[in-house]
Amino acid sequence: MAKITDISWEDFSALSLEEKRPYLARYAGDGMPYHTLFAQQFDRDILERLCALSNRIRFINKSKEGALYLKSVLAHKRAMLYFSQPSSRTFLSHLNACQLLGLTTSSVRDAATSSEAKGESKIDTIRTFSSYVDLIIMRCPEKGLAEQSAWELSNSERPIPILNAGSGKDQHPTQALLDIYTLVRSFEEKGGLDGRTVTFCGDLLRGRTVRSLSYLLTNFNDVKQIFVAPKELQVPEDVIAILKQKGVRYEIHDDLKAATRESDAVYMTRIQDEWDESKGESAKIDTSRFKFGAEELALLGKDGIIMHPLPRRDEIATCCDHDPRAMYWRQMRNGMWIRAALIASTFGYEKELMNCGY
Ligand code: ASP
Ligand code: CP
Repeated sequence: MAKITDISWEDFSALSLEEKRPYLARYAGDGMPYHTLFAQQFDRDILERLCALSNRIRFINKSKEGALYLKSVLAHKRAMLYFSQPSSRTFLSHLNACQLLGLTTSSVRDAATSSEAKGESKIDTIRTFSSYVDLIIMRCPEKGLAEQSAWELSNSERPIPILNAGSGKDQHPTQALLDIYTLVRSFEEKGGLDGRTVTFCGDLLRGRTVRSLSYLLTNFNDVKQIFVAPKELQVPEDVIAILKQKGVRYEIHDDLKAATRESDAVYMTRIQDEWDESKGESAKIDTSRFKFGAEELALLGKDGIIMHPLPRRDEIATCCDHDPRAMYWRQMRNGMWIRAALIASTFGYEKELMNCGY
């Protein structure tokens, strides 16, 4: 069995994401991740198990007895939420997922309030947090920090799990999990997710949710992916390389109406202008054709769905908000359930929750 304690950081960091996967799994050998860092850790079996566990937790929580039982499951554990980038949903849904399972939580939401401001390194900061808790959920602007933190902690006297809640422009694996859960639930009584067409629209270059979800979709059979964006913000080559390697059907163009006509799901995204290299760079790009409004809604099939990781600006018109196909509100609540499922699985409680009497 691949052990992260048997490999140097240099050798580990040089591996491909697929090669890293076994080093990040739970030693129990149930296939679930211990550290959750990127989408490449999830195959179809794990995704289906997490969706089933989310449904189970959701059901158990409906009764007072069930909710109190859930609160006892991880009442002996503590979690730290370290968010050095802004967040509403990811922070609150992880916090509430922890609370559902009884974990006690603490948080740092601004590096300026931690001793990083006194020059402490990021890795020392993470090791400091690990002294007090049993899980670190972290969002940060740096691409590889969650991964390096996972290696460092696994090779320390406090080998606690790291959960990546968004790393730079790179990955947002738990967002992709909730997106998959939303897609699976939306199509479960309509023939399933296999064979569907999903369109991504907006800032596909810098949107980390797109990279993570595009990968997770490759676990399903014959799901076509369409990428609609201004040429300056089109999907990066590394995402396409994976689709080519896996033989996934895809299209790249700039016609949202045409894509909507053939899509089962349209996944809108915000222009990620916080990453602009020069001030006002994104504002110079014509994004007017990359917005979903009444005309696009009229072109979407009756079983189609509109998704968005949120927050939105004006890329989905508010006139869509009360349409039953607008899935973005439910999508964020799904995040709480699947994050609870992931946290419970990280600590080895999948079987107990699936089999408990509630
Ligand atoms: N909330 C998502 C993220 O953190 C999407 C966005 O901010 O546009 O990646
Ligand atoms: N979708 C998402 O990550 O939202 P927040 O940035 O508000 O956490």
